Amino acid sequence: MPMRTCCLILACAIAVTAAAQPAVRYQPKTKVWVLETEHTSYALGVNERNELQHLYWGKKLARDEDYPQARSAAGFAFEAREGLTSEEYPGWGGMRYAEPCLKVTLEDGVRDVVLKYVSHQVRGDGLEIRLKDVNYDLFVELAWRVYPRSDVISKRATIRNQTKSPLALESAQSGVWYLPAGEGYRLSYLSGRWAGETQLVREPIHPGIKVLESRRGNTSHQLNPWFAIDAEGSAGEEHGRVWFGALGWSGNWRLSIEQTSHQQVRVTGGFNTFDFAYPLKPGESLETPPFYGGFTDLGFGEASRLLHRFERAEILPDRAAPRLRPVLYNSWEATEFHVNEEGQRQLAGRAAKLGVELFVMDDGWFGQRNDDKAGLGDWFVNPQKFPSGLKPLIAHVNSLGMKFGLWVEPEMINRNSDLFRAHPDWVIHFSGRPQTEGRNQMVLNMARADVKEHIFGVLDRLLAENDIKFIKWDMNRYFSEPGWPAVPAAEQRKIWVAYVRNVYEIIDRLRARHPSLEIESCSGGGGRVDLGILQRVEQVWTSDNTEAFDRMRIQDGFSFAYAPKVMMDWITDVPNMNGRTTPLKFRFLAAMMGSVGIGGNLNKWPDADMDLAKKMVALYKEIRATVQQGSLYRLCSPREGSLTANQYLSEDGKQAVLFAFLHSQQFRRPPPAIYLRGLDERKLYRIRTIDDKMTEKRETASGAFLMHRGLSFRLGGDFDSTAIVLERLD
Ligand code: DGJ
Repeated sequence: MPMRTCCLILACAIAVTAAAQPAVRYQPKTKVWVLETEHTSYALGVNERNELQHLYWGKKLARDEDYPQARSAAGFAFEAREGLTSEEYPGWGGMRYAEPCLKVTLEDGVRDVVLKYVSHQVRGDGLEIRLKDVNYDLFVELAWRVYPRSDVISKRATIRNQTKSPLALESAQSGVWYLPAGEGYRLSYLSGRWAGETQLVREPIHPGIKVLESRRGNTSHQLNPWFAIDAEGSAGEEHGRVWFGALGWSGNWRLSIEQTSHQQVRVTGGFNTFDFAYPLKPGESLETPPFYGGFTDLGFGEASRLLHRFERAEILPDRAAPRLRPVLYNSWEATEFHVNEEGQRQLAGRAAKLGVELFVMDDGWFGQRNDDKAGLGDWFVNPQKFPSGLKPLIAHVNSLGMKFGLWVEPEMINRNSDLFRAHPDWVIHFSGRPQTEGRNQMVLNMARADVKEHIFGVLDRLLAENDIKFIKWDMNRYFSEPGWPAVPAAEQRKIWVAYVRNVYEIIDRLRARHPSLEIESCSGGGGRVDLGILQRVEQVWTSDNTEAFDRMRIQDGFSFAYAPKVMMDWITDVPNMNGRTTPLKFRFLAAMMGSVGIGGNLNKWPDADMDLAKKMVALYKEIRATVQQGSLYRLCSPREGSLTANQYLSEDGKQAVLFAFLHSQQFRRPPPAIYLRGLDERKLYRIRTIDDKMTEKRETASGAFLMHRGLSFRLGGDFDSTAIVLERLD
């Protein structure tokens, strides 16, 4: 064989071997595990004291020898050895002063844990490592999973009591992510409140600890379990090193972002330690929520795109065979509680004319639900409003070519309800103490098996008896007085975990029994948005604030962590909430950056609005695959200027959509040029406009033109907006 051919074959063989590298590798000589995604790697190892150490997390390294080896550090009186290394799952014990992953009280009063490596197993893209306390049969099973295509790795822990006595967990974290030691990092996170969720906050990380958490029983409107940290605070949308992560938990959660005195930057996440006490009898275990983490050196934009891809491919219920979200109509803002068959028929008729595919009847259809003071808990159809039940309305909706969806709030109960009169003890409460009501409602104790079975049964029946294809699952208040008097005091605080697990279980069982059911998670807007609930629902209600300009900021923050596909956006009537009035076109285009819903009172929409709406819905259907399944490029942020611009690029790169909005502008300054991203420089794109706003009229433009010369639009003043669709000419 000639030398050249031989070399070629060899080179191919090496390339094939390199490509076929398993995502999880163990190097027995160095006792190092390497977890690799397409562009990143994560390494951990066992040191000479049998302790599990984190070694590396960042851009993929070329050779196995490039990874460090685990070694314990020498400490002295005020510089504890443990604080100088990065322990992968530190128990609280010895001279450890940073946030631990595990804190335990054993029955004999011992309160420290010293965990050592026992064994490991590599299973496909997963790694499991078993740790054990040095004295007690207290085991921790750590599990990592690699998601190569989205550059994400997950970690979680299962704590097992194999001793002969009960013990109590005081902290059970999913894990800790370490960044390369250093200073000058910047933290990004999402904060907000009801009607003002997911506002992006950025601040430098300083020595000490910053806690992001929920103590409210659900994920919360106030803080969301997502973070991003960039090196030197210098990353932008498309450049710079960004580490990011998110927890998959819809109850009390906590992220502790810490910089130690040794410039160790670490993010510990899991169950909130506040009011946490989880007893484990012999043989019992507790599994923590998954904690996902990723890295990119291509900025916040790429970090979001990776997370979006990860959610679509690995988290959402349709991950195996993605489906596009339908255009829906929701009755809430049109009718509030005043629903009845005739009114809903009328709205459905109007919605169908616009091209709506899913008609959702919101609150007010059940029990004595005429306002928010009564009815929650009584999930039977109100006979005055729907004398023949829901079937005739559903048949009408179906005859118009739409599916039918229904609002429910299964976890809640009004004092004025048959359910409360029958089961006052089903409510979360402390015996003999005041019971705080929020929106005139109390929280059912979903941790109780009887409550769980009751709610499952009621919903299962509702779905079995009616052709309901979608439910909007709402939760309109947080926990208070979180007591569970039916179980011993030592068990009561399990409620924080058991409640959420049972809500998850009900949803999982409903989905198994009704495979075509789709679900929206709502908690007075965006109070329950996280990667735990997203494994079970197709979409989330982003915010009760549907005012389009406020929404720009809410949606912008949302997009840092969550995919546009799950972001439900409604077009509603104006003035709305804050008194602002924006044109219908602006409202439509704002909503079209996620999954579209219409929430206005269509009976009052003039013909001109109906015509425009029909065109916009038709346009949305042409571009929704790109918006919902494609890549998002945040080009101009509503946080930074008077112009917001977002671009979406289809998975195959053949279609791009650009949305641009002018708002809060001053001094008649012309809007800046917009530079597109992710296109093929040498290819031509056909430009389709929806109006005449493009300054320089062109039918086609090259990718280079669109990305480097950019596009300018004649936007005439506040709340003017436009969109263009680009089709690649191959
Ligand atoms: C809060 C939700 O966010 C609204 O969209 C609506 O469903 C109301 N609850 C109904 O009570």
